[in-house]
Amino acid sequence: MQDGKTEPVLEIRDLTKIFRRRGQTPLTAVDGVSFSLLPGECLGIIGESGSGKSTLVNMITRLIDADSGQILLKGRDITRLRGKALRSVYSEIQMVFQQPADSFDPRRTLGDGIGESLRNNGWSAAAAREETAKLLDLCDLPAEFAGRYPHEVSGGQCQRAAIARALAIRPSILLCDEATSALDVTVQQEIMSLLGDLRRQQGRNFSIMFICHDIALVQEFCDRVLVMYQGRIVEEGIPDTVIQCPAHPYTKRLIDSIL
Ligand SMILES: Nc1ncnc2c1ncn2[C@@H]1O[C@H](COP(=O)(O)OP(=O)(O)OP(=O)(O)O)[C@@H](O)[C@H]1O
Ligand SMILES: [Mg+2]
Repeated sequence: MQDGKTEPVLEIRDLTKIFRRRGQTPLTAVDGVSFSLLPGECLGIIGESGSGKSTLVNMITRLIDADSGQILLKGRDITRLRGKALRSVYSEIQMVFQQPADSFDPRRTLGDGIGESLRNNGWSAAAAREETAKLLDLCDLPAEFAGRYPHEVSGGQCQRAAIARALAIRPSILLCDEATSALDVTVQQEIMSLLGDLRRQQGRNFSIMFICHDIALVQEFCDRVLVMYQGRIVEEGIPDTVIQCPAHPYTKRLIDSIL
């Protein structure tokens, strides 16, 4: 940038979500959260169960609506987009879920699942098939996996395919909500190394939000970490610093309880 300032790829301003259920006290799951995601950055989010991490990412992908605040994608306000306009957001933001199989329809092959977003974006069937084979290769899976169903592959393989699916339309932001938590440690490391390779290949065009219970993984992989507590961000910083010298008593408790 000419002025030396990096524009964020995603900017969250004062975002709030209140769940209201009849006969119950409203619950503020996300409470005035603000932060930015920079081009090429991997941003970790940690916080105890129920602190609002998934609610936050679900608002960003627009799976749920925010009550107030703003979500700016490359400077464009996407907070209240609907229908066709909202679909353009999904070409920029993709998500990988905790349960690998959640990214796929159990009755359709992995290849159908990966090719679907390409087809939705105007690719011909033949071109989508060819690109699917390339994406599988990128995620270290043999091309024949395109013909398998989700239940015919292991959890780690399915998660690789889910990453291939998420990458199909070259999103600029990948949201990983506990994407490695359901996998055993060696498979987890393989997925992390795949994400690391992708970051190196894509550089500033690819940012990751990485929600994870595993502080060691966040420390190894993330450039910056946010700590959530009861719907708010209570601390933000470089993972090594936050982990070694937590500023907030809650962060200290969280780290002590995990390490
Ligand atoms: N659809 C919903 N209706 C009512 N309350 C909800 C709903 N979704 C989430 N909540 C509540 O909002 C709070 C935040 O939930 P959220 O799933 O965002 O937490 P989390 O930080 O992702 O937790 P975990 O680490 O267990 O995944 C919790 O108290 C949860 O019970
Ligand atoms: Mg969650």
